[in-house]
Amino acid sequence: MESVSHENRKFAPPAAFAENAHIGSMEAYHALYEKSIKDPEAFWAEAAEDLHWFKKWDTVLDASEAPFYKWFSGARTNVCYNCVDRHLEGPNRNKAAILWEGEPGETRMLTYQDVHREVCKFANGLKQLGIKKGDRVAIYLPMVPELALAVLACARIGAVHTVIFAGFSADSIRDRVNDCGAKCVITADGGWRRGRVLPLKNIVDEALVGAETVTDVVIVKRAHGDPFPCHVKEGRDHWYHRLVQDQPIDCPCEEMEAEDMLFLLYTSGTTGKPKGIIHTTAGYMVYTHQTTKYIFDMKPEDVYWCTADVGWVTGHSYIVYGPMQCAATQIIYEGAPDSPDEGRFWDIIEKYRATIFYTAPTAIRAFMKWGDQWPEKHDLSSLRLLGTVGEPINPEAWMWYHKTIGAEKCPIVDTWWQTETGGHMLTPMPGATPTKPGCATVPFFGIEPAILTDDGEAVEAGILAIKQPWPGMLRGIYGDEQRYKDTYWCKWGGKYYFPGDGARRDEDGYVWILGRVDDVVNVSGHRIGTAELESVFVEHKDVAESAVVGVPHEIKGQGLIAFVTVIKGRSHDDQLLKELVSMIDKSIGKFARPERILFSNDLPKTRSGKIMRRLLRDIAEGKKLGNTSTLADPSVVEHLRRQYEES
Ligand code: PRX
Repeated sequence: MESVSHENRKFAPPAAFAENAHIGSMEAYHALYEKSIKDPEAFWAEAAEDLHWFKKWDTVLDASEAPFYKWFSGARTNVCYNCVDRHLEGPNRNKAAILWEGEPGETRMLTYQDVHREVCKFANGLKQLGIKKGDRVAIYLPMVPELALAVLACARIGAVHTVIFAGFSADSIRDRVNDCGAKCVITADGGWRRGRVLPLKNIVDEALVGAETVTDVVIVKRAHGDPFPCHVKEGRDHWYHRLVQDQPIDCPCEEMEAEDMLFLLYTSGTTGKPKGIIHTTAGYMVYTHQTTKYIFDMKPEDVYWCTADVGWVTGHSYIVYGPMQCAATQIIYEGAPDSPDEGRFWDIIEKYRATIFYTAPTAIRAFMKWGDQWPEKHDLSSLRLLGTVGEPINPEAWMWYHKTIGAEKCPIVDTWWQTETGGHMLTPMPGATPTKPGCATVPFFGIEPAILTDDGEAVEAGILAIKQPWPGMLRGIYGDEQRYKDTYWCKWGGKYYFPGDGARRDEDGYVWILGRVDDVVNVSGHRIGTAELESVFVEHKDVAESAVVGVPHEIKGQGLIAFVTVIKGRSHDDQLLKELVSMIDKSIGKFARPERILFSNDLPKTRSGKIMRRLLRDIAEGKKLGNTSTLADPSVVEHLRRQYEES
């Protein structure tokens, strides 16, 4: 595998930061790291002591049914209790938990006491609808406080939430709801995005035609019927404000077993069908608490802002669960970064005096393009720590972030992790690790990375592998045990977890992430399987075959290029192009639209009929073609290349 980076710059954490940090030196990091690897059970048991348990565990790690690992067996706890109730005794009770700002500019503030009251009322409302422990609840909401409240209310009563990002289409919602057999959907009449209202409830109505398991829909009033009429179906639909208004303000937490399911989150893999990633209670709770504490160096006086959407794992772990367990004060913003203008994020940082800012490289590249005049108009001096997540960050964007946003005084934590890992895996310790632009650096406590060949041989550049289980890891794929084993544990005979990323180790032992080694693409930090698009295209009656590849994109990190062959005799014109684009919008969502769709008569294939995507990537990137000797018909690829360049 090609090593993509030759970056030599190194930035030590500022002394003032290191002095007050939870981990203030590499010696301190190494000492704890050693302990976490040599005796993981002792390490995680100690970490778990920070939290509340109705009953403590009998065993920290049970590997008897590997790869179905069990953490903290025998324990009983509740994640909502640890995020909310635990803070009600003492000074955190009246601390701001959520500083919310809507895109049009309204603001709301909820203390931990407020969150407790609202979550309890919501939880009682759900109970009134007959939702109980183990039931699945789908959540399709904009970034309003009720999104965090809904997640916590489910956790409180032991219902399994599955949050669906509000950019997904009706078909995607239906697939997810049907896959997990959700009983209830929580949505809103609308949500603001770039000055427009998204008609979320109307999309849910469309999704629920053909979703038999859903008996109830809760609607948060956000758009106030404007500009879309919101149809309320008698008997099934309930306005949130009416449902909660007379509920008691207390609702005891369900005592959850350590391995009871906490949530499902659907993510893309290498097939056309998204996977319902299972996270359970105790291990995920301990892991998100520890990573938030150390990686964001969370302190009581911090004002933390993670710009992710709760529809993705970053929002689960580092908006709801991690920060709230740490009693953080955090900003939640509903809308787009360029609404009403490109200075919106900097305006929010200045207004709330944010101290920690966590965002995606794709956003940073957009900020760079919009120009320094936007951040320069604002006082960003409150910031003390910056972070990135979701995709590799190019050194140029890293340097811009460091200088223009961080004023060269804020450490940057480039955090590599996944929906499956539950929390940060490779990341600098902000007060200890000298950082390098574009590098995720070193493992978190308890994480032992290796870089291997397909055959399991250790190499400098190859495929990333994780050696030991860790508490935040996924516990399976909903309804598909075999796929869980095959996807993550088969590659090296069950000895390592296979994340699907390529990596390189440098002379300091730092790990550089080189991007995915499978057919998963990160478009603007959104994880998309190319097979999902392909399976949509081939549903069109005029399409014979399709291959979708990811290529580098200046702002989005990666963009999608689709090659589509049409059935003989059928025309491929603008009309077909429009139909294919609208099929993607309908089946997945607008965010999955390819950059280009190219029609061709044939696709490059091996003699056994396998499409050679590597060559398609070469064509789309304008690169010299790699080895074409295994092609059944070498003229296909030349023809495609000419066509690509001319179109
Ligand atoms: O390829 C890696 C990339 O995002 C993938 C995981 O995507 P998802 O499950 O949607 O979770 C995103 C948020 C955690 C990984 O397999 N990725 C994530 N963070 C980084 C990254 N690639 C490089 N550097 C990162 N910091």
